[in-house]
Amino acid sequence: MARIFITGGGGFVGAAIAERLARRGDEVAAFDIVESPRLKELRAELPNLAFYPGELTEWSQLAEAMKDFDADAVIHCAAVVGVLNGASSRLWTMRVNVEGSLNVLSAMRLCDVKRMINLSSEEVYGAFTGDTIDETHGCFPVKTYGISKFATEQLARDFAEENEMEVIHIRTCWVYGPGLPRPRIPKTFIDAAVDGRSLHLDGGAAYRVDQVYIDDLTEGLVAALDHRTHKHDVYHITTGQAPSLGQMVDWIREIVPGADISISSGPYQVGPGVVAVRKGALDCSRARDAFGYQPKFTLRDGLEACVAARRRMQQDV
Ligand SMILES: NC(=O)c1ccc[n+]([C@@H]2O[C@H](COP(=O)([O-])OP(=O)(O)OC[C@H]3O[C@@H](n4cnc5c(N)ncnc54)[C@H](O)[C@@H]3O)[C@@H](O)[C@H]2O)c1
Repeated sequence: MARIFITGGGGFVGAAIAERLARRGDEVAAFDIVESPRLKELRAELPNLAFYPGELTEWSQLAEAMKDFDADAVIHCAAVVGVLNGASSRLWTMRVNVEGSLNVLSAMRLCDVKRMINLSSEEVYGAFTGDTIDETHGCFPVKTYGISKFATEQLARDFAEENEMEVIHIRTCWVYGPGLPRPRIPKTFIDAAVDGRSLHLDGGAAYRVDQVYIDDLTEGLVAALDHRTHKHDVYHITTGQAPSLGQMVDWIREIVPGADISISSGPYQVGPGVVAVRKGALDCSRARDAFGYQPKFTLRDGLEACVAARRRMQQDV
């Protein structure tokens, strides 16, 4: 039984990892600005899951929470997430993602916590130079979000070395699954298909990106947390595959016959006028060789699981 402090523990990834750790018997603290409905639901069921309200940029709130909880390790999920959020407030993104991460590291030093698993992103690479890339690919982030995530990695390397800490960076890509609390591909298409609504997206059919099902990500995170002799400080945890968004839409139409959803050719835009850089698949063999990470869900499997969850949700209301 370990004591794990999760920043952003109310978020999509944070709550999922909190649930997995608490269910196996770890003592878990979820630090977040507010208690999300998902976290509230989980805490009603799991007495070994605590909530610490706090703001990452407020050093004293963070330090007091970490001191009170007496953690063995930290999983750092809290962040301003995504290219559009990063662009809408560059300064705040830097404050939360960079200054906030330094606060977490400083609180760890204060409380003598030696290990952190840091959630990083494929955005640290900028444009991919091949269909599949591994962790040695150059990092030339082009958007505020990716710049903040790479700055965090580099600062953590410096900090960890000086303070004899271990920080493992997990670079994941688009994470999806039941319970994602915001509109985003593939959720938008799945919800429209199951609810019987039309949805057409202009551009992006040929865009290839690695999409990982939430259960695979949390399994990989736990394996990285449990592994004690890391040869590397950065690992990919995704699927190692990058089907096109057009293929993804075709699969949803197969799973939900009659779905009125489509995506046209042309560049994929993250938001109006923001053309996405080239992506692709993230090779996961380093994580497989080091701690046995093996994704169980192909994108098609994950889409089926999401459709089933959406149908169950509809029946419940
Ligand atoms: N979701 C993805 O597709 C994806 C892909 C790559 C990397 N990641 C990384 O995974 C991590 C978790 O992402 P997610 O999808 O769960 O995002 P999320 O937005 O669902 O969760 C982030 C959580 O952090 C909290 N938070 C934000 N600012 C905070 C602050 N100032 N103080 C305290 N808490 C704060 C939010 O309230 C939220 O609960 C992030 O570090 C993100 O960069 C996510």
